[in-house]
Amino acid sequence: MIRIILIGYMGAGKTTVGKALAAALGVPFYDLDWYITMRYRKSVTEIFAERGEEGFRDLERRMLHEAAEFENVVLSCGGGTPCFFDNMEYMNSLADTIYLKATPDVLATHLKMGKGKRPLIEGKTPEELEAYIQESLQAREPYYSQAKYTIDVSVLDTFTKIDECVRIIREMTHI
Ligand code: S3P
Repeated sequence: MIRIILIGYMGAGKTTVGKALAAALGVPFYDLDWYITMRYRKSVTEIFAERGEEGFRDLERRMLHEAAEFENVVLSCGGGTPCFFDNMEYMNSLADTIYLKATPDVLATHLKMGKGKRPLIEGKTPEELEAYIQESLQAREPYYSQAKYTIDVSVLDTFTKIDECVRIIREMTHI
């Protein structure tokens, strides 16, 4: 049974890599943010606005417990998912967890391109964004580093090397 969960900071490429990995393995792909959006019929931004971050984290945890039980899947989480409650321990208990690790510079470049979808960084100037990434990545690293596998995706820069990333993950996990 294949159950892979991708974790990592916003902009690391969890969704892009997850889709390619799932296609290569011939299993469905789920993105936890999409799953939440589908179940609640609301965007992550709307949920943050209505319930605040605390409300979102609560709901995210509940949806994780649904989606992570699926069999033969690749699931990508939100950047904050591993850092709340016992989520990381829970994911490790039932899946091959993979941390897509990237430098703050690479993350900032990706996040500047994908504006508007992420309430935590909405409205930040480039300088503020860079400072925020530095600080929050440092705080999150102890959670991310609990993943069973880590892959450095900084080298994947423009995502042209997705296939290479998929190959490395398959080699590491023997799947
Ligand atoms: C978040 C990351 C987002 C989304 C929410 C909060 C975070 O997902 O869950 O905006 O705390 O890092 P992505 O990592 O897919 O952008």
